[in-house]
Amino acid sequence: MMQLGQYPAPTLVIAHFSDPHFRGDDDGMFGVIDTRANLVAALDHLERSGSAPKAIVFTGDLADLGEPGAYRRLRASVEPVANRMGTRLIWVMGNHDERAAFRRELLDESEPVETEPAPHDRVYDIDGLRIVVIDTTVPGYHHGELSDAQLDWLAGVLASPAPLGTLLAMHHPPIPTTVEVMAILELQRQDRLAAVVAGTDVRGILAGHLHYSTHGMFAGIPVSVAAASCYTIDVATPSTALSGVSGGQSFSLVSVYDDQIVHSTVPVGDFTAVTGFTDAFLENLSRMSPHDRLEAFSSKRSPYTVADIEAL
Ligand SMILES: [Fe+2]
Ligand SMILES: [Fe+2]
Repeated sequence: MMQLGQYPAPTLVIAHFSDPHFRGDDDGMFGVIDTRANLVAALDHLERSGSAPKAIVFTGDLADLGEPGAYRRLRASVEPVANRMGTRLIWVMGNHDERAAFRRELLDESEPVETEPAPHDRVYDIDGLRIVVIDTTVPGYHHGELSDAQLDWLAGVLASPAPLGTLLAMHHPPIPTTVEVMAILELQRQDRLAAVVAGTDVRGILAGHLHYSTHGMFAGIPVSVAAASCYTIDVATPSTALSGVSGGQSFSLVSVYDDQIVHSTVPVGDFTAVTGFTDAFLENLSRMSPHDRLEAFSSKRSPYTVADIEAL
């Protein structure tokens, strides 16, 4: 990536997907949603973008009903793309997931059948960026909770900083929602999490669950919620009840810089390209001095036309 402004290229990029809600035996949802086709389109968009993410983080609700077959089908859809891009896959538990099937089918791990599956809490090192996955799910329920043991574990992990800082990845976002019914399903007792993460090297919180892209702050830390890849929730409706729609699916690109992290929402759909520049055009701009570049591309009295710059 060439540098045409004040910032160099990001140190690394992470792709943030959420809520694919795969089914065990078919792809349909509500008669109009094709969960697999929607995710494949989003992954295809990511792969064609050349963004080269170091990891793809899926913030939960990977399966709709927690069936083992849903995880197998999800894995078959995602792993070939991740392998081609040479990117890590990071899976987060959501309230629609079931821990035992999640572990067995996605992570090739198994637990003794008589054991209640433990929360899926993990630490990943992505070229110096620490991604901490924490499981906010409550078996048998859709709201979120974190146990004392999980919070103690998180405090222990965060006791020493990582070279590029930490991203916390969780399903239930610790920010308010204006979709009133979803507020019932929020992460409970968020003050306890705030006490653990405040003042640490956590630079961002990635979450899902809400099915619409939204951002906020929690304990001084930016929170970014990626919309679902299956169906989305329209927050701008007259009703404050839930309105799920077939459209508006997106994923996020998380660009990690030395002094900040930028979250960019990427809409997924069959859009008509209406304008743009060629790589050669940018290449020519990059060869100019900063002054000439401003005159060529910023000045409203620019002496250059697009054809001039392409011909330079
Ligand atoms: Fe969901
Ligand atoms: Fe959820």
